[in-house]
Amino acid sequence: MGRIAVITDDPGWHGKRLREALATRGHETSFLSLTACRLNVHEDELPVVLPGFEDRLPDGVFVRGVPGGSLEQVILYLDILHALKLLGVPVYNDGHAIERTVDKGMTSFLLKRAGITTPPAWVMRDADMARSIAERELRQGHSLVSKPLFGSQGTGLRRYDSLDDLSGFSDDDGVFYLQRYVHSGDTAHDFRVFVIAGKTVAAMKRCGVTWLNNVHQGAHCEPIHLEDLRLCHLAEEAVRALDMNYAGVDIIRDEHGRDAILEVNSIPAWKGLQGVTDLSIADRLVDDFLSHPALMAAHSRHAQ
Ligand SMILES: Nc1ncnc2c1ncn2[C@@H]1O[C@H](COP(=O)(O)OP(=O)(O)O)[C@@H](O)[C@H]1O
Ligand SMILES: [Mg+2]
Repeated sequence: MGRIAVITDDPGWHGKRLREALATRGHETSFLSLTACRLNVHEDELPVVLPGFEDRLPDGVFVRGVPGGSLEQVILYLDILHALKLLGVPVYNDGHAIERTVDKGMTSFLLKRAGITTPPAWVMRDADMARSIAERELRQGHSLVSKPLFGSQGTGLRRYDSLDDLSGFSDDDGVFYLQRYVHSGDTAHDFRVFVIAGKTVAAMKRCGVTWLNNVHQGAHCEPIHLEDLRLCHLAEEAVRALDMNYAGVDIIRDEHGRDAILEVNSIPAWKGLQGVTDLSIADRLVDDFLSHPALMAAHSRHAQ
């Protein structure tokens, strides 16, 4: 039996599904928090110590949650993921994929650089510069969204439709991330496309109560057919450009039918999406995770 570490501070619904999928395939799951892990530069112990894995590194690590914290704390969490990978442990998604996408500024930059459609965005410290960019955009008739660089689930976003709205203009944690607002038509909606191993496995339309279409903000989910190839291809291109094992890709379609990537999630929730698809997303994730050569080798070693 292989021993898998699922990294999370709150196993919940997703942890349960992952544990069941891993157990069906002969692997044992341990849930642990990155806050309890350490690097160890000493001969007597393993170089990375995870709770419950003091004698032997896990056969694989599935990352379901990276806690927030100070810069030093977050760097330590990422160091642990990087170190595990360097030691030959499959890490899903790995620390680099998480770094590239947890940061909305880097995601926007990398998508644009790869020629993938994403709304214009600006990231900076300077408040005067941010305000003058916002004023220019608003005068040109665009609306703008500001977002926390490391935000999720639709929290902390603000929308600016007129110069008057700028009275509440401020940074988030000392950084401005501004993105041009995309009108999706009369009723607010966007799309969540779930990509595993380079291929779309499920997708849904999310219809928000407000302009925020996150499930966490009360959006309701509708299934969509994967025959919408344009949507799938765009999501798959983004995941390839960001070099990820799997991802939840947020895509918005404007009033003229043009698609753009809003953001890419390296630790996406899939409870809402599971409600509109028959396929088991946890099974698909675990099958792909276990197809890593080191995990296949571990499985046959333990089976002997
Ligand atoms: N540029 C934008 N134009 C239109 N709607 C947006 C834009 N950016 C974000 N939104 C809305 O806000 C939601 C949350 O934004 P997103 O960038 O995905 O951040 P989060 O990490 O909080 O999910 C999106 O799902 C979408 O409904
Ligand atoms: Mg999102």
